[in-house]
Amino acid sequence: MRPMPSLIPRFNMDYRFSDLIYGMKAIFSGNHFDLKTLESLFGKKKFLFTNYGRSSLYLILRALNLPKGAKIGVPLYSCTVVFDAIVNAGLVPRFIDINIDTYTMDPMDLRDKIEDVSAVVVIHTFGHPADMDKIREIAKDVPIIEDCAHSLLSEYKGKKTGTLGDASFFSLAKYISAGDGGMIILNNGFKNFENSLNREISSLDDPSNFKELAHSIFMYMYSFLYHRPWFGMFAFHMGSLVERKVDIARKRVFRVSKIGRSNLSVFLRKLKTFKEKVERQRRNSKILLEELKDTNLKLPYERKNTWCNYFLFPILFESEDERDYVYKYLRKAGVDSAKLYSTTPYVAKKLYGYKGDCPNTEEFASRVMTIPNHYTLTKGELIKIANIIKKIMLK
Ligand SMILES: Cc1ncc(COP(=O)(O)O)c(C=O)c1O
Repeated sequence: MRPMPSLIPRFNMDYRFSDLIYGMKAIFSGNHFDLKTLESLFGKKKFLFTNYGRSSLYLILRALNLPKGAKIGVPLYSCTVVFDAIVNAGLVPRFIDINIDTYTMDPMDLRDKIEDVSAVVVIHTFGHPADMDKIREIAKDVPIIEDCAHSLLSEYKGKKTGTLGDASFFSLAKYISAGDGGMIILNNGFKNFENSLNREISSLDDPSNFKELAHSIFMYMYSFLYHRPWFGMFAFHMGSLVERKVDIARKRVFRVSKIGRSNLSVFLRKLKTFKEKVERQRRNSKILLEELKDTNLKLPYERKNTWCNYFLFPILFESEDERDYVYKYLRKAGVDSAKLYSTTPYVAKKLYGYKGDCPNTEEFASRVMTIPNHYTLTKGELIKIANIIKKIMLK
């Protein structure tokens, strides 16, 4: 494969040298973590931390103490590690379809399946808040867990995602690039389960200093290689090789532990100024929306009563062929993009008991692609991305 030094990466990995140093210091310093920034954003809540977003969901589900085999409503349009968390907790995913216009759980499909489920996981996909009022109206007393892996700082009717359900969890690896880690927020509806969740978390192992050090260095190297020129010279090709070798329909090892001190300290530090980065990414997304508005693509407009962090910028094509053609063409023109969760329906059928009752998700997964909108990109680069897409679409 030929080297492509100017290739723009599909995701924005932003774990810098300053994060590495800050995280390394935290490994050897005391254990005090200041949660003031979290309280100023989310209010006075109970915040708990684990090694991953998926571990956080697993522990929330265990704390609910549901009978083995109980069903958990979850959108099929998701990362399959979410299903791993459900299965590892001894429970069974009950797949709910999405609404193609909102990318998130379709309340009408939830209504048809609600009698079957003992808890609901709602995902604010790409950063767009789900229709929480309707979902709550349908779920009634069934616990709602928000998956905020994509939606740090997004808002629904003026309230931050993560404060709307009974409990919520975040992935610290994603938008904010804090290394790895998961955060849980408990809201009032979870009061009865708080003690059992606390017990579960205190019984977990701490990662060793050596493991933390190795992980921080790995994250820094990974992020370094995920930038130009190295991304298109090495990382992209290495990633493609791994992708080809890995069997996607294979169960993964599921490891749950406490959060590393380096990851938690880097997260809390980055959170102080994270809103500025989100504002930049929103501005970038608006440039793309403006530039692409005359195409036949379905674009991710912010919905009424919501404030979207624009973690990702999905564009929906009219057919799978068109999506795949643009995907290849874009890469040749120097822009990497992602067919996010496009294999999930297939993997869910093979491994997680999906029965084929989510047609919107299957359709959406086969036609969607996310394009770079990172806060690190310039206006010129965004216009270049949009122009390449327009050029192909008009061909
Ligand atoms: C929607 C969604 N939820 C949860 C997760 C899990 O996050 P983590 O990688 O921190 O376990 C992911 C990511 O992989 C995700 O995309």
